[in-house]
Amino acid sequence: MNYDVINKFRELYGTAPEKYATSPGRVDLMGSHTDYNHGFVVTMPINLEIECAFSANDSEIISLYSCNMDTLVKIDAKNGDLIEGANWGKYPSAVAKILINEGHKLKAFSGSFGSSIPIGSGLSSSAALEATVMAVLAETSGFKLDKLRMALLCQKAENVGVGVNCGILDQYSVIFGEPHKVIKLDCRKLTHKQVSWPKDIMVAICNTNKPRQLHGSEYDDRRAQCEEAVVVFSKIDSSIDKLRDVSIDFFQKHKDKLSAESAKRAQFIIEENNRTHELEEALRNGKTDRLKGIFERSYTGARDLFEISNDAMEHMYAAMSTATGVVASRQAGAGFGGCMVSLIYKDQLEEFKKSVHTTYLELSGIECEIFGVSTARGTFTEDL
Ligand code: GLA
Repeated sequence: MNYDVINKFRELYGTAPEKYATSPGRVDLMGSHTDYNHGFVVTMPINLEIECAFSANDSEIISLYSCNMDTLVKIDAKNGDLIEGANWGKYPSAVAKILINEGHKLKAFSGSFGSSIPIGSGLSSSAALEATVMAVLAETSGFKLDKLRMALLCQKAENVGVGVNCGILDQYSVIFGEPHKVIKLDCRKLTHKQVSWPKDIMVAICNTNKPRQLHGSEYDDRRAQCEEAVVVFSKIDSSIDKLRDVSIDFFQKHKDKLSAESAKRAQFIIEENNRTHELEEALRNGKTDRLKGIFERSYTGARDLFEISNDAMEHMYAAMSTATGVVASRQAGAGFGGCMVSLIYKDQLEEFKKSVHTTYLELSGIECEIFGVSTARGTFTEDL
């Protein structure tokens, strides 16, 4: 537990907090942009997390302090409006509004939170904040939400309240996380299963320190180009509803009916979705020698077909894939900067870090951050 949030709570509100809530971040190991195409993602909740100390209060004002930003926001518990505070207040405000729209009467709380998830870097810092606030509000207001409902409501808060048209990956991953489990999420059925994991391999996350901004039109453009392909393909086969339904053979046969851009996007999604199955199978059969190739094809597809890479990512990929102890490397999150991910040999984390740091600095002139991570439990609250 991060005791700063507890001390900060005491300092701000003059009493000890009664409860604690936390939510992990996540990193995707395969399946970029497949979620809104109703495909699969191999995803991992990680032990970089948000931690929040809180108590219900008898006012009608939610007061929430961010230790990272050093700012306090105030939200009206009756209507979810942001009364006072910083830009990040739009997330708790959106969550409160969604819950109120669902018919819940909210009991206000006072809280202070801190986060070890790098902000806006593709590790679901916003989903973790949404899930934490939703769990806190359910606890103080005395209602229960099952995990799937919570994930869908947090996604709605992000889509409607914050205005980012994301899929379900982030919210589902941070809420359903379980220790020791890397999962394969089915984004159509909204179910998941555990994938096997090799004992000697761990996950390292490398932050390019080039922040990623999902508000740009790029993410929405990619979604639209995928949908454009579906419109064309569904005229040929009416059972096609999303790119998940398109086989690579069908794609090859009919790709000339798509615009050049839409064809590249669709090819990436169809192949990337297939790679989630390939990865699962390689892990199940202990074929670790196949991981490098699967990850490499994911990155080159993301760069050349889906076009979500940039100079910083290209430099980071070069640094990661040549580093000591590396097994496989690729992008993470939405792309366009932010974090990338490697599988590495557990006993070589320090050498890997040193090597990536030096090469990336040489290539890009930027100092990067590297985290060796493990799996983590999904969002929960407990008494202090
Ligand atoms: C962001 C979105 C997710 C998903 C990924 C790309 O993280 O929030 O819904 O689309 O990008 O896989």
